[in-house]
Amino acid sequence: MSMDFTIDTIAQAACRPKPTDESQLGFGKIYSDHMFTMRWTPETGWVEPRVRLFENLSLSPAALVLHYGQTVFEGLKAYRNPAGSVNLFRAADNAARFARSAQRLDLPPVPDDIFLEACKTLIELDHEWIPRSHGTSLYIRPTMIATEPYIGLKSSSEVLFYVITGPVGAYYPEGFSPVRITVCEGYSRAGPGGLGSAKTAANYAASLRAEKEAIKAGFTQVLWLDASRRRYVEEVGSMNILFKIDGTVVTPPSGDTILAGITKDSVLELLRSWEVAVEERRLTIDDVLSAHQNGQLEEVFGAGTAAVISPVGQLAYNDKTYSIGNGEAGPVALELFDELMGIQYGQRPDPFGWITKVDIA
Ligand code: PLP
Ligand code: COI
Repeated sequence: MSMDFTIDTIAQAACRPKPTDESQLGFGKIYSDHMFTMRWTPETGWVEPRVRLFENLSLSPAALVLHYGQTVFEGLKAYRNPAGSVNLFRAADNAARFARSAQRLDLPPVPDDIFLEACKTLIELDHEWIPRSHGTSLYIRPTMIATEPYIGLKSSSEVLFYVITGPVGAYYPEGFSPVRITVCEGYSRAGPGGLGSAKTAANYAASLRAEKEAIKAGFTQVLWLDASRRRYVEEVGSMNILFKIDGTVVTPPSGDTILAGITKDSVLELLRSWEVAVEERRLTIDDVLSAHQNGQLEEVFGAGTAAVISPVGQLAYNDKTYSIGNGEAGPVALELFDELMGIQYGQRPDPFGWITKVDIA
């Protein structure tokens, strides 16, 4: 399905100043000048695809999304490459996951080509917002929300799809240095048959209280265990988790309680190509701690679009804190970080065909 987008001309006076110090970008605070919007109803399908000024939305206070959380989103990044164009990383996989998330939340699918075209058009128009220094990128946030005003519980018959972008640096305050993670014991994030495999607000809402408590206790984020038995390791609030145990990289398989991370999938592909043993299997927190006790827990690291590769220096469980690799990033995490970023920034070959190039004026 292809559609002609209406592209608004934005007055120079409406454009905001771009950040000048890329070392201070942080994550998610700055937005580019344009956004993409498109509306859906069952009668019309998707209509009014439009690239316009980034501005506040006008929404009924009764909009279903505000009451019942019918919404999904994605997160992907665009990077400047040495040839002067822009690399989009595995965007088709984000489009596919967006459609799967939408299905779970009973929202209409956005055709993949429109999802991708919206991202590319924003990159072209807002290319001056893409930062230049290594470790920075343009973060792209496609989002779908239920806009129908209705206080009864039902699936919305009015939906808005929009895409916003903004320059980002490191996600965690630690930058790319090791983070401290604590196992969440008092709360659950996603249960069997629930929303865990969808990228939807409710999963993140379920994590906020736990995260605040973790940060207060001096940690960066929470490691979630399975909701039924609180034994099996699942994922961190904003990234998947991997453990290198006695030479093998082990990670829980994505299922209905764990997001199928695109970075994790890329990491597994890279490791297999390097002939490092990998296993996608369930593992308990006790498995992890006994590996630590036996001296076999060589590395722990997270993987995610915002988080990139994030080494875990400390892991806390049951009031005890375990140091991993003396709190330093391990060699596999470092090599993965370099290789992944090398591919993303177009500084290393792309043997898996992960990059889509976008030309900019
Ligand atoms: N798990 C959760 C809960 C996330 O929010 C993310 C980030 O998007 C990930 C895992 C990693 O997914 P991806 O690598 O596709 O960004
Ligand atoms: C991402 O990594 O793209 C995410 O959506 C995680 C979010 C918590 C920032």
